[in-house]
Amino acid sequence: MKIGVIGAGHVGLVTAAGFAHLGHSVIAVDEDQTKIETLLSGKTPFFEPGLADLVCEGTEKKRLTFSTLISDAVTFAEVLFICVGTPQRESGEPDLSAVEKVTSEIARSLSDYRLIVEKSTVPVMTGEWVKYTLKVLSDKEVSFDLAANPEFLREGSAVYDFFHPDRIVVGVETERARKIMEEIYHDIPAPILFTDIKSAELIKHASNSFLALKISYANALSQLCERVGADVNLVVEGVGLDSRIGKAHLFPGIGYGGSCFPKDVAAFLHLARSVGYDFKILKAAAETNEEQKRFSLEKIRKGVWNLKGKTMAVLGLAFKPDTDDIRESPSVEIVKMLLAEGCFIRAYDPAAAQNAKDALPEITICADPYQAAKGASALLVLTDWPQFAKLDFERIKDILLMPVIFDGRNFLPKEHLRSLGFTYLALGRT
Ligand code: UDX
Repeated sequence: MKIGVIGAGHVGLVTAAGFAHLGHSVIAVDEDQTKIETLLSGKTPFFEPGLADLVCEGTEKKRLTFSTLISDAVTFAEVLFICVGTPQRESGEPDLSAVEKVTSEIARSLSDYRLIVEKSTVPVMTGEWVKYTLKVLSDKEVSFDLAANPEFLREGSAVYDFFHPDRIVVGVETERARKIMEEIYHDIPAPILFTDIKSAELIKHASNSFLALKISYANALSQLCERVGADVNLVVEGVGLDSRIGKAHLFPGIGYGGSCFPKDVAAFLHLARSVGYDFKILKAAAETNEEQKRFSLEKIRKGVWNLKGKTMAVLGLAFKPDTDDIRESPSVEIVKMLLAEGCFIRAYDPAAAQNAKDALPEITICADPYQAAKGASALLVLTDWPQFAKLDFERIKDILLMPVIFDGRNFLPKEHLRSLGFTYLALGRT
């Protein structure tokens, strides 16, 4: 199948390279000339495990090409995936202007039948606008179909998730569209759920919001455990063993971040308001996520007394491990709160340090965790990079001004740290 992917970001580039690996012929389009030049030079514009090899394979096998022109994709491909960003506005409403812009450009280039596929995360009923735009801006006799095919890719495991999805969700309106989508995903061993377009659009927001809800529930439990003296890690382990609940995304910490959960929850709340539904349970999840960061700052304060003027060593700035992405990172939010309290920050992150430095010029980026700890009043571990649980903590204790460690992801060896004489602070761990 000849496929066009419009938007070569975290979703689009993985999708394009994944389709090429499946044997399809793919053209990936992005308006960002620099990004396309980077790709044409054989490099990838962002860190994602396995992606560079996949892109390389696609280009070497001449199954994956790049362009800045949408018209190239419309001419070349029978199926066009819209994978552009839908960032959050102040109101929480997703900004769909890029989707409209791309749809308009597709409409103006249409001359033969094309299947247009919404892969960007869009609120339900966006499909109606896409069809309307295609109809009013294309030549009358041109025929097209629309499909909705939301992505469930996690950053840091997006390539794996592309080839091993729990399910593929496809919203279609015609048998022709259904058959094309069946062929595209033919070699992926996962159930395909075919629905109408609105249901497919809604599944994405409903899934991500539920995952965010689950995380906030675990974070609420951490605050209860803090108050009653129970260990939340054991509580969520016990709860997660119920096969109806499951342990995934039930782990407490400083909160969820990233380019999806905060945005998707805000979009879903906005959508609910727009159709007259007060989505109380989801509002509570968003509020709990904000509260968890404030709760974390107060916990840190308990370990060091006055914050003003103190140097804090921060390990982890990415919103989660295995990515360089700091978008909506709770780690960065807490660093900002500490800076506002008058702290000095020495920080280390294996992948996201430069992105964080660009966003927060006043922090000092260190080459390794030990350099960050040098002369600091406390060590704050805010992203659960696995290597942070295996540090030489005796060495850390010697170079810290105070033997205080805050475990923002409840994953450090609590007993070992206490045996070394650390004041170990976490979220709901006795
Ligand atoms: C998420 C969804 O998982 C994915 O299906 C969707 O397509 C995009 O959004 P992603 O944001 O990349 O993926 O990462 P994810 O691994 O889900 O984690 C999101 C945030 O939740 C991170 O900040 C992570 O630290 C936090 N988290 C995750 C928790 O706090 N506790 C958990 O148990 C799991």
